[in-house]
Amino acid sequence: MSRTNKMIFLVLIAGTLLVAVVLTFIALGVFHPVPWLLVASLLIIPFLMSRSEKQHYVEWKDEYSVGVKSIDDDHKKLLNLINNFQTAVRYRTGKAFEKESLDEVIAYTKYHFDREEKMMQEAGYPDIEAHKEIHRAMIAKIDDFLIDYDKRGYEALEEVSLYLKDWLVNHINGTDQEYSALFIEKGIK
Ligand code: FEO
Repeated sequence: MSRTNKMIFLVLIAGTLLVAVVLTFIALGVFHPVPWLLVASLLIIPFLMSRSEKQHYVEWKDEYSVGVKSIDDDHKKLLNLINNFQTAVRYRTGKAFEKESLDEVIAYTKYHFDREEKMMQEAGYPDIEAHKEIHRAMIAKIDDFLIDYDKRGYEALEEVSLYLKDWLVNHINGTDQEYSALFIEKGIK
């Protein structure tokens, strides 16, 4: 369900519950449990909305660390940039901020991939070509998303934001972990 549809759904539920609360208080009185149960249901809605919002953002966890400060710093910055982009998408902050925040994620991702690949080269990482191919495929996918964004505008962004968040978290916490031991052994910082 899209964010707009989800919001409409929750507003409809809240409106219906509010009407039901008023009607049941009038019909059953303040000492009857039913209107109070409806009040409790109404109060849960802001909590559900807040939980639903949080799941679109990503927080750094220590388990994401590859044990190399410069790389961890890059990954933290990427997660922050993705969260900025999520804000642009979810709160419809306008085309200028949408575009700027998306461009920032892409530019920093490319910068980071380039830096990481040079470190893999220096360290003599044996799986460098496979890792570089994964990076290239991700950039190609983003280029496709940008073409789609040019055509469809805002409607294309929800898919881009979910892809970026899931891809980067999985990559940082999966493929990038594979060079960690070698980088640490080589004293790469
Ligand atoms: Fe940290 Fe392979 O990107």
